[in-house]
Amino acid sequence: MASHMENDSSAGFLHGFKSFATDAIHVGSEPEQWSSMAVVPPISLSTTFKQHSPGKHGGFEYSRSGNPTRNCLERAVAALDGAKYCLAVASGLAATLTITHLFKAGDGILSMNDVYGGTNRYFRKIAAEVGLDVSFADLTKLEVLKAALKPNTKMVWIETPTNPTMRVVDIQACADIVHEHNKDTIVVVDNTFMSAYFQRPLALGADICMYSATKYMNGHSDVVMGLISITRDDLYERLKFLQNALGAVPSPFDCYMCNRGLKTLHLRMKQHYKNALAVAQFLEADPRVDKVIFPGLPSHPQHELTKKQCTGCPGMITFYIKGKLEHATAFLSNLKLFALAESLGGYESLAEHPAIMTHASVCENERKELGISDTLVRLSVGLEDEEDIIADLEQALSAAHPKK
Ligand SMILES: Cc1ncc(COP(=O)(O)O)c(C=O)c1O
Repeated sequence: MASHMENDSSAGFLHGFKSFATDAIHVGSEPEQWSSMAVVPPISLSTTFKQHSPGKHGGFEYSRSGNPTRNCLERAVAALDGAKYCLAVASGLAATLTITHLFKAGDGILSMNDVYGGTNRYFRKIAAEVGLDVSFADLTKLEVLKAALKPNTKMVWIETPTNPTMRVVDIQACADIVHEHNKDTIVVVDNTFMSAYFQRPLALGADICMYSATKYMNGHSDVVMGLISITRDDLYERLKFLQNALGAVPSPFDCYMCNRGLKTLHLRMKQHYKNALAVAQFLEADPRVDKVIFPGLPSHPQHELTKKQCTGCPGMITFYIKGKLEHATAFLSNLKLFALAESLGGYESLAEHPAIMTHASVCENERKELGISDTLVRLSVGLEDEEDIIADLEQALSAAHPKK
C-alpha cells in the first residue's frame, strides 16, 4: 500500500506566504525594544506605566489600553496576516462582540448560515435582541449572497471552512460582490480553522480577519483569546477604541503564551495537514464511514476553490459514521488517543459530537438543514504519530461496528 506520506499535499494549492516563518519568529520580538535586550519578550504585568509629565508617556498608560507583551503579539499577528494592525482580545467571541459594536440598532448583519455555534448564538440571541437586523444565508452560493444583501447591510460575516460541515466560501468573490453592493459594507472572515498559515483573508478582499486564537494560532489548548487583523486605518481606529472602551482584553501572560505558540505555527500546520490528509484518506476508504468532509480531498465539492484561496488544510475533518446516534456515541466513547472534548487546533487529537456538544445551541431545524446530524463526528487531528492516530480510529470504528 502506498504510504500517505508520499502525497505531495501542497500540490496545486496557493503558494505559501513569503517569509512566514521568519516573521512569526522575529516580528514583534526584537530584543532592541527592551533595555535588557531580552531575546524572548518579557511578560509585562504592570497595570500602569509612569508618565514623564501629565499625558507624556513612553507609549503605554494603562494596561487595558495598551500593554508591551500584548503589543509584541499584535505586531507578530499583523505581519502573519499581511495586515497593518492587529488587536488582541479576551476570546474569539470577544472579537465577534468587539467587531459587532461597530454597528448600531437597525444596521444589518448578514452571516454565513453555517458558523460556530457560539457565533450563531451571539448573533441570534444578543445582537438581534439589541436591534441589529441579523440574517443568515448560504454564502457558498454567490446568487444567494446577492439576493440577501439589503440596503442596511453593514457587515457580512464569513466563516470558511465552516464549523462543522467544512463548507468553503469564496472570499474574493464574496468581497467583490459585497463591496460592489456598498463599498462601506464590512466583510469579516473568521479565519480560526485555516489559521494565518493557510489563508490570508485580507489579501482576498476582506476588511477584517478574526480568530479564536484559542485554536491553531496559540495551538496548545492552554489560552482562550481572540485576534482581529485589519489594514484600513479608519477601521483600526474604531476597533482600537472599542478594544479599550469595551475592555475585553487578554492578560499579558496569555499574550506571552500565544506569541510563543505562533513561533511554531508553520511547523504545526504542516504536520496537522499531513496527519489529517492521511486520516481523511483512511476514513474515506473505510466501509463503516458514510462520508468524509475534508477540503484537502478531491472528493470535497470545493476542493478546487480551497486550492485557489488556501496554501493547505488544517487538521479538521468531519465525517458521517454509518448507522445511528448509538454508533457515533460508541465510536466517540471508545477513542483512547483522541480525547472526547470540545475545541480544536491544539497539538493533541480531539473528537466531538457537534449536535450534542459544540452546536447544541443551534436549533434542531437549523442543524438538520445544515447536515449536523446524529452521525456527524468532528475530528481535530493532532500532531501525534500518524500510525497511532489511525490505529485509534480503527479500533474505535471496530467498537462501534463490531464484526458479526
Ligand atoms: C470558528 C470559531 N470561531 C469562534 C469561536 C469562538 O472562540 P472562543 O471560544 O475563543 O471564544 C470558536 C470556538 O470554538 C470557533 O470554533
